[in-house]
Amino acid sequence: MTTALLMTLDLLAAVLAAATWLGAGVAAASHRLRTALALLAAAVLASLARTGVVFGLASAGWWFAQEKVTVALPLLLVTGVAATALAGPRLVRAARSPSGDGAAVSPAVVVSLLGAGYAAAGGLAGTLLIGYPATLSTALVTVAAVAGAMLITWRIVAGPGRSPRVAIAITLVTGLAGTGLAFFPSPEMDDGREVALSHSGMGHLAMAAGSPVTPVGRPVTSLRGPDAPATGGAVRRYTLSAGTATITLSSGQKVAAWTFNGRVPGPPITANVGDLVEVRLRNTDIRSGVTLHWHGYDVPSGEDGVPGLTQEAVLPGQEFVYRFLADRPGTFWYHTHEVSDLGVRMGLYGTLIVGPPSAGVDLTLPVHTFGGKTVVGDHDQPIDQRVSPGTPVRLRLVNTDNTPHRFALSGTPYRLVAVDGTDLNGPGELDRTALRLPAGGRYDLAFTMPAGRDVVLNTDDRTPSVRLTRQASASAAEEDTKAWPDLDLTTYGTPAATPITSADRFDRRFTLVLDRGLSLAGGRPMYAYTVNGHAFPSIPTEMVSQGDLVLLTVVNRSRDIHPWHLHGHRVLVLSRDGRAPTGSPLWLDTFDLQPGEVWTVAFRATNPGLWMNHCHNLIHADQGMALHLAYEGVTTPFHGAHGG
Ligand code: C2O
Ligand code: CU
Repeated sequence: MTTALLMTLDLLAAVLAAATWLGAGVAAASHRLRTALALLAAAVLASLARTGVVFGLASAGWWFAQEKVTVALPLLLVTGVAATALAGPRLVRAARSPSGDGAAVSPAVVVSLLGAGYAAAGGLAGTLLIGYPATLSTALVTVAAVAGAMLITWRIVAGPGRSPRVAIAITLVTGLAGTGLAFFPSPEMDDGREVALSHSGMGHLAMAAGSPVTPVGRPVTSLRGPDAPATGGAVRRYTLSAGTATITLSSGQKVAAWTFNGRVPGPPITANVGDLVEVRLRNTDIRSGVTLHWHGYDVPSGEDGVPGLTQEAVLPGQEFVYRFLADRPGTFWYHTHEVSDLGVRMGLYGTLIVGPPSAGVDLTLPVHTFGGKTVVGDHDQPIDQRVSPGTPVRLRLVNTDNTPHRFALSGTPYRLVAVDGTDLNGPGELDRTALRLPAGGRYDLAFTMPAGRDVVLNTDDRTPSVRLTRQASASAAEEDTKAWPDLDLTTYGTPAATPITSADRFDRRFTLVLDRGLSLAGGRPMYAYTVNGHAFPSIPTEMVSQGDLVLLTVVNRSRDIHPWHLHGHRVLVLSRDGRAPTGSPLWLDTFDLQPGEVWTVAFRATNPGLWMNHCHNLIHADQGMALHLAYEGVTTPFHGAHGG
């Protein structure tokens, strides 16, 4: 059974348990004793079912079950056993008695049944609203809420009079202690030197104690690119002016957009290895400001374009010049990082291709959603291109959206030769196999134009995006690609030696548990996208030293897909759900975590600076799912509590 399925079953069982316990209490209160008895039996079964599912989840990974095992189940167990012991025999007796329904039951029966219902509902609320990890504070507040609800129920059912002192005491003590602990400051850093956020769920408290002392260091603004290209290289100069404009898609449809140089996507930036790329960014009228981030290109930190961290956002009338050496070939892209959720969606992005370009036809295809339409470049209609048979073709797919796209190439076998700008090792021939490209990711496809057929690339199994035809007039046949299997990257290509293996000794280990919960994201209270129970900017910064070997374990216990993206470094995939890749080594800058998945990835810290580490569903990032990874000794003169 997959972890995602277990997560769904757990929710079902939790809802069922809460509903049946509460239902039993209500039935008892309204003297429908046979119904109450039946619901009590169902509640016991549902509670046992939830217990079983939680143990299943715990064996998939402690992160999936921590708050359930430490808070929800103990609460359910205590109240459920008490309710069964108290109410069970009386309901059986009453139901057997000739008068049957209608007999009066004591307040204790009603309150105990409802109490188990409150506990079940409290556990469910804990999973949905707080998630991972439950802390001592959240545990106490949950207990207080359940005890308080029982007290109020007691007053209603038993009428005015003396309320049980124990219940009052429990409510007050746990409520006050829990609320007090919530104000305990959470740590600002995670040095990754111990298992991050200990499994006890009290990790926050334990780690608040000693923050490492930061040595006097280098400001991130001094970590800039060179002034000159490598020997033999050229200087590639670009000026990008950000401004609002109305753009015209290929169909003639007009769309209000935020643009670089009046176009969407922005001008393609190209260079060859050895060149110096120099981009002058100007802002005409984007009021919130703009920056340029070179997605997947590991530029020096001061060129990384993260507002408030590596530079200030460029406001209207201002400019900023980026310089970096084109030091490796591949398919990349750039985008604004200020209010990037809105900015990228509105059009502030473009492609960055480092060559040499391949011989034959070489097409760069950035895919974006505009007004509900899938647009490739500025085409909202198929791109038609004539290609003569025998021509080598390279298609560079770039997903600039927040969610994955599924691509299917029909008419020819092909190879997936590069992912995220890195060549795969020994990529085999693929046929009638679709590719799911994560948000922010890139795939390079290569094939030779066949003599017998036209070639069609379609996106999300709908309209074709690109038609490569042998004759100007030919109309390419469309295939139904929905049933094609998706390529599993972890089994594709040929293994090769890697500079990092899971047997290595890691200097730092960080665990990121992705979830949802009530939190403050950038000061706004919301149902945030959280990492280890926190939202940006209160997720502890991951600290590394130059040269460290770093292991990241990323766990998705939410019901959303999260395309994880670390700035400044490519990461090597070590495992997905405990299984190491069996194909080509996979170096990625953006990897999709499906619900329930656990990935371990590693990198060598060789690019000193201050880096964002975030979900590339930029809506999620905006609502909390972002943190910093910092090298010891690198400082920022900016406020730091921002990442766009
Ligand atoms: Cu393309 Cu911080 O991201
Ligand atoms: Cu996400």
